[in-house]
Amino acid sequence: MRIFLDTASIDDIRKGAALGVVDGVTTNPSLVAREGVEYKDRVLEICQVVDGPISAECISTEVDALVEEARRVASWHPNVVVKIPMGVVGLQAIKRLSAEGIKVNTTLIFSANQALLAAKAGAAYVSPFVGRLNDAGQDGLDVIRESVAIFDTYDLQCEVLAASIRGPRDVTECALAGAHVATIPPAILQQMVNHPLTDKGIEIFLNDAKKYSAV
Ligand code: E4P
Repeated sequence: MRIFLDTASIDDIRKGAALGVVDGVTTNPSLVAREGVEYKDRVLEICQVVDGPISAECISTEVDALVEEARRVASWHPNVVVKIPMGVVGLQAIKRLSAEGIKVNTTLIFSANQALLAAKAGAAYVSPFVGRLNDAGQDGLDVIRESVAIFDTYDLQCEVLAASIRGPRDVTECALAGAHVATIPPAILQQMVNHPLTDKGIEIFLNDAKKYSAV
């Protein structure tokens, strides 16, 4: 499973990228708004740090305008993947953009049917929001599992990108459910690295190593 960072913080992206396990980045308008920077500038900065798919969300609410906006955003850098919200407008835009070879990440996916439609329209990724589904009393993993199974059955060339991850255990469960990618907030990636027994084990080994001379 590939790992993307779910943030627009350039410091966090630098720290995460230094671990050597980050394959891409996803942003959304809420994440960019927190940063107080120009959207295009930040997306380009991210592209300089991580050499992989960088999702940048488009916000137009009418098909022609959305297609125009997505073309403009996609032209910023070859690694930019345009994020298009699911819906009637979104599907029409995805169909046109994918026909032009523009990679689309369909965002705000909350059912396997939505994922199926987005994949049929030509999306490269669908992003089921696992945490928001769980918050609403549904099982977010069901959408991951079902979407993966449908794409496999019909050989649909679309990747399931698990989004709205709330904790390290969500990552394990998304991996077990067959997600192709999980996009992970930086703090959760750090939690995945650490384990108290690892820290304790290092402490014991370092103390014991003082009892002999190294060659
Ligand atoms: C990423 O593509 C999504 O926009 C993000 O994971 C949503 O996460 P949230 O539900 O924590 O806002």
